[in-house]
Amino acid sequence: MNELNIRVLNKDDWLTYRGVRLMSLQDSPDSFGRTYEEESLVSNDEWVSRLKPDDRAKDTLPLVAEVNGVAVGLAWGVLHNPRYKTAHIYQMWVSPNVRGQGVGSLLLENIIAWSKGLDVDYVSLAVTTINDPAVKLYESFGFEPCGSLESLREESALFVQPMKLKLCSTVKITEPLKQNF
Ligand SMILES: CC(C)(COP(=O)(O)OP(=O)(O)OC[C@H]1O[C@@H](n2cnc3c(N)ncnc32)[C@H](O)[C@@H]1OP(=O)(O)O)[C@@H](O)C(=O)NCCC(=O)NCCS
Repeated sequence: MNELNIRVLNKDDWLTYRGVRLMSLQDSPDSFGRTYEEESLVSNDEWVSRLKPDDRAKDTLPLVAEVNGVAVGLAWGVLHNPRYKTAHIYQMWVSPNVRGQGVGSLLLENIIAWSKGLDVDYVSLAVTTINDPAVKLYESFGFEPCGSLESLREESALFVQPMKLKLCSTVKITEPLKQNF
């Protein structure tokens, strides 16, 4: 039986993180501000550093989803500045071969649960306007558009829509952290 597990990445996981991050950028270039070309130039030290508890502090949550130990999904929660009472979600990606089976929902649910422990009022993200599956996923959790459209990146014709979830709103409950898959 296949087991889905969601866990926090640490510095010893940098090769796993690098692998899944680069895969996500190759698979879904229109979903992210950074490009595969930019990230593939990142040094090994930088990949390790992104995951070091000291560097990433307690206010980030880098999550990987694994099926039988193989990375199939990624998502980061970040609290940039407690003053703004808003946690952010970045790098959300699920491998095409396991999409539509609840992995994205589980990643999102874990970051929302983590955000609730941070004493913030909102969870925020930005999604490319033409990315229907992601927009639907966020809407199903109660995220709503906020603010004006922004360019995905320089010289891109695509736009991202900032979205926010107010944390007192009802959150869809799916499955626990570990489940059979
Ligand atoms: C967006 C993404 C993360 C969703 O992951 P997933 O594991 O397939 O999502 P789930 O199976 O948990 O789906 C949850 C909900 O999202 C919506 N959804 C997901 N895929 C969808 C699709 N192809 N069409 C319409 N709605 C979809 C639905 O509301 C779904 O709920 P339902 O199953 O009850 O209908 C995944 O499609 C992905 O990685 N896309 C490429 C990268 C990307 O766009 N990342 C987002 C950056 S902002």
